[in-house]
Amino acid sequence: MRQKDDFSRRQVLGKGLGAASAVLLGAVRVRAQDTRPTTVPVADLRCGMIGIGGRGSDLLSAVNQSPGVRVTALCDINPKHLQAAAEKVKDDRPRLFEDYRKLIEFKDLDAVVIATPVYLHAEMSVAVLNGGLHLYCEKPLGMTVKDCRAVLKAAQSAKGIYQGGTQLRYAHPWQSSIKLILSGEVGRPIFIRAHRHNVGDLPHDRQWLFEKRHCGDTIVEQAVHEFDLFNWILGGPPVRASGFGQQSLRFEPKGRDIMDNYALSLDYGKDKKVSYSHSWISAPKIPMDGRQEIVYCEEAAVDIENAMVYPRNFGEPYKVAPPEPAGDSTQLAIDDFFRCIREKRKPLASVQAGFDGAMAAILGRQSIEDGRVVTMEELLKEG
Ligand SMILES: NC(=O)c1ccc[n+]([C@@H]2O[C@H](COP(=O)([O-])OP(=O)(O)OC[C@H]3O[C@@H](n4cnc5c(N)ncnc54)[C@H](O)[C@@H]3O)[C@@H](O)[C@H]2O)c1
Repeated sequence: MRQKDDFSRRQVLGKGLGAASAVLLGAVRVRAQDTRPTTVPVADLRCGMIGIGGRGSDLLSAVNQSPGVRVTALCDINPKHLQAAAEKVKDDRPRLFEDYRKLIEFKDLDAVVIATPVYLHAEMSVAVLNGGLHLYCEKPLGMTVKDCRAVLKAAQSAKGIYQGGTQLRYAHPWQSSIKLILSGEVGRPIFIRAHRHNVGDLPHDRQWLFEKRHCGDTIVEQAVHEFDLFNWILGGPPVRASGFGQQSLRFEPKGRDIMDNYALSLDYGKDKKVSYSHSWISAPKIPMDGRQEIVYCEEAAVDIENAMVYPRNFGEPYKVAPPEPAGDSTQLAIDDFFRCIREKRKPLASVQAGFDGAMAAILGRQSIEDGRVVTMEELLKEG
């Protein structure tokens, strides 16, 4: 179960972190087996983590390997997760908390990473931002328009920065493919055809993933990665959506009320349309399944998952060159978070990008629930 989950949720979205180990020497981190520069800043940033389950453990490894960062505080309501995380960073001697509010009050902190279930994101994000700390929060920004607005508002007046957990923005092939499209080299993007069809199932040891009231449904919890990419390519969120979805095959575990398949059309305005489908009912060995995002532009189509360009004039397909240095998407996203703090720079996965991604997902969910076309204008008016 977990392995299948890893394929769909981790291997596809961010390849393993590798074996680089960081050792604290005085206040300077020195890396082993790492291709990044050996000159690293003196440890100048202190980071706390809230929620150290599956994703939180990956993020903890990335924070632990980020140059010049110490992990000074950890929080989880599950004592086993808390102890396992503490063991990973024992050189930093982090303070352990079961109540996230106490972690926010802790003085030895500059930044916080949140990787808790989705229904807690908005409440925790607002508290961290209002506490004057920098924040990296896992996607999605929130589950409802009201919650997302609260995070956006808190981030806009906060002392610290907000970075969302849409790490695909930071790595090859997505970043380099999208940069090529945005350069105009292959003409304007007109239409995106995309899907994510997963084999196996979500991990059954995480009940919250199966309940709409805790995860916002699969369209919000998962597809927000794709919506974020569509928004980036097409220059903002969709203006209307129309979709159909159902729960037709997967009914376990008990209490499961999320969709196991849906199809969605997104209208981003004149000459900008998206056709997307997503399911948890795929069968193994189907050649076309898994993830795919084809962006049809005026001069060529770009397969952004495989960084391939297919010219419309029947010219030879070619590969998009990977950026230097290449690396794991999660590590690159976390490293850039701390760089943005130091350089007082706005993150690429900004709070506005997170808001727009969540709005696209919530719009799609609303249209599926209502069985009609829903416009962004009415969603924002009602929300
Ligand atoms: N960016 C990605 O590629 C990616 C991949 C997987 C998951 N995620 C996101 O990461 C988040 C966590 O997902 P996960 O798979 O790690 O879930 P998980 O259930 O494995 O981990 C959640 C952790 O939060 C803890 N927790 C719950 N309530 C808490 C509270 N009140 N205070 C402190 N800790 C609390 C749990 O004990 C658990 O350790 C979700 O938002 C999910 O969407 C992102």
